[in-house]
Amino acid sequence: MVKIGNIELPDFPLLLAPMEDVSDPPFRRLCKLHGADLMYSEFISSEGLIRDAMKSRKKLDIFDYERPVGIQIFGGDEEAMSLSAKIVETVNPDIVDINFGCPVKKVVSKGAGAGVLKDVDLMVRLTKAVVNSTQLPVTVKTRLGWDVETINIEEVALRLQDAGIKALTIHARTRSQMYKGEADWEYISKIKQNPNIEIPIFGNGDIDSPEKALEYRQKYACDGMMIGRAAIGYPWIFNEIKHFFGTGEKLPEPTISDRLLAVKQHAEWSAEWKGERLGLIEMRQHYSNYFRGISHFKEFKTKFLQVLSLEEFYQLLVETEAFYQNKIEI
Ligand SMILES: Cc1cc2nc3c(=O)[nH]c(=O)nc-3n(C[C@H](O)[C@H](O)[C@H](O)COP(=O)(O)O)c2cc1C
Repeated sequence: MVKIGNIELPDFPLLLAPMEDVSDPPFRRLCKLHGADLMYSEFISSEGLIRDAMKSRKKLDIFDYERPVGIQIFGGDEEAMSLSAKIVETVNPDIVDINFGCPVKKVVSKGAGAGVLKDVDLMVRLTKAVVNSTQLPVTVKTRLGWDVETINIEEVALRLQDAGIKALTIHARTRSQMYKGEADWEYISKIKQNPNIEIPIFGNGDIDSPEKALEYRQKYACDGMMIGRAAIGYPWIFNEIKHFFGTGEKLPEPTISDRLLAVKQHAEWSAEWKGERLGLIEMRQHYSNYFRGISHFKEFKTKFLQVLSLEEFYQLLVETEAFYQNKIEI
């Protein structure tokens, strides 16, 4: 068992990564259904929360069926982080997570996200500001360092543990790498081997198959893994990995019907959460992800991109299913 404060997770939990414009409630519900053990919201600007900006507020929506769930905030100002942790607490999530990993210029230039990797003292102050403002367990997600010359994750891990965080997720890249190059998990096992580290350490970066998950679990001995991009359009990844850990066997790939069911659930839950029209408009970014690698989907994609009502959407699902059934019979 892995514990984050009083939250109990199964052995070697699989976490859904916080992803802007992706990890919203409808998508999280799908990932939960397919085996994610702990999920995080999209990142939320502390300044936005304080201003009561609509976009930031909406990201606070969480539902009981997705617990345990964490809400992630970012910012470079102690007071704003402290206030926003209090706002987060009012919606009663299980965890408050701090983003010290976002590499985007707009965030970094305000001393937030991965920007604080250049100033560990500030990072500690921001963390303490959050820890002291909430009863909830606080976790952090960060990167190895600012760049290859200044990798400081070991110091960061120890100092953040002292500041009171209850778990740390490490995306094994530097800020300079953005999303390029391979994630270097050696640093993760180095931190795990440090006898002074007591909190769970979760590895993140490039896990995209059950085989790789098992290889990295054995090689780097972290306490669990966080998965981001590989879950986009493929929420089955969580149970596929768990099954492989348990049996050494691979589950069969999702069928066309499985994929269409996931699209249906995702769209229905989006429509429920955002309204029918907006929910379906926002679904547009997801359709091809669910059909990655499946031939002939292009012919349907254009149609999916045009639907604006659930009625049209359901018709199209039936049409798509029938097309693939016939194809298989041929
Ligand atoms: C579209 C997208 C949005 C992201 N948004 C966030 C975010 O809001 N907060 C965060 O901590 N990381 C964010 N990330 C980084 C991921 O959480 C994760 O660390 C990264 O994708 C590496 O993991 P992966 O190789 O499993 O995708 C985002 C990544 C992507 C691809």
